[in-house]
This record gives sequence, C-alpha cells and structure tokens, in this order.
Amino acid sequence: MAGVSGAPFVVVIGPPGVGKSTVARGLADRLGRPLLDSDTIVEEREGRSISDIFVESGEEHFRAAEQEAVLDALEQDGVVLALGGGAPMIPAVTEALSRHRVLFLDVGIADAAKRIGFDKSRPLLSVNPRQSWIRTMETRRPTYDSLATHRVDTAGRDVDAVVAEALTLLEDA
Ligand code: S3P
Repeated sequence: MAGVSGAPFVVVIGPPGVGKSTVARGLADRLGRPLLDSDTIVEEREGRSISDIFVESGEEHFRAAEQEAVLDALEQDGVVLALGGGAPMIPAVTEALSRHRVLFLDVGIADAAKRIGFDKSRPLLSVNPRQSWIRTMETRRPTYDSLATHRVDTAGRDVDAVVAEALTLLEDA
C-alpha cells in the first residue's frame, strides 16, 4: 500500500481521453512528488512512439513492454504514476494493482470525445473512434471499478478541479 517503502503514492487509471497524464502531472506538482507515466516509459525504452510500436510490432509486443514498465514503476517509492488506459487489464498488472492506492478517473463519452479529439495518435481508437471507446469502456469498467480505492468523475470539470478533489480524497484516506 502507498506509504510503504517501494510503492507509488498513488496510481492513476482510467480510459483514454480522461486526462490521466495531465491530472497526474497536476497531482505530482501539488504534492512535490516525481511523476511517472507508463506510456512514456515504454516509448523511451523502445525508442519509438506507441503508434509506431503498434504498427511495427503489434499489440502483443506493446502489452509485454507495458507490463514490464508498469511492474517496474510500481516499485518506485512515493511517485505519482499514470498508466495507459489498457494497462490495468493485463492480468499481472491487475493483480499487482490490488495492493496499491489507485485513483480511477471516470468520464463519459461526451467529455472524452472533446479531450481526445479522436485523432490518430491512439492506435486502438483509429477505426470508429466513438464506438470503439464506448465498447472498450464497457469491457474495462468492471476492472477499473474493482481496482479503484478512490474515484473522481471528471465530466464537465477542468484539470484544477479534478486535481483538487483528488487531493482531498487522498489526504482523507
Ligand atoms: C491504450 C491507451 C493508451 C496507450 C495505448 C493503448 C489502451 O494510453 O497506452 O495506445 O489500450 O487504452 P492512454 O490511455 O494514455 O491514451
């Protein structure tokens, strides 16, 4: 659990477009803690973008790299850690996250669509983005819900408001 040596202060999960990276950066700034982002770790280790990894090596390769990045990051003490939207679905990651403080950033399709812009930088959403997002969220929601020790609904709220509520929840925990 957070606070114990070798564990992040909090792990931020949620679907693509919810603002995980931005909120995690805000939390890290306000708390004066280091920020880690699993997508960034994978991109740095592979020396290429997530899109290129999917196109050139496939999703299976990406998930293996993602699992390794997340399990390593879960050993970093006191950090704020943002995960890619699909990372919590990897069985070894699901299992590991059950021992951590996890903040689930929730959002509906309307707000997600505005933030994500549904551009081509998210390979899993490049075809029928809205339908894909909805279907993916339906599949993933039970896992997000079961792992969440804290949850903030981000619908219609700016980053500062989300960060402020998350800080209040985390301080009270
Ligand atoms: C993915 C989400 C992405 C990235 C990859 C796969 C997913 O991260 O890890 O494209 O499976 O939902 P974001 O949630 O930060 O977009």
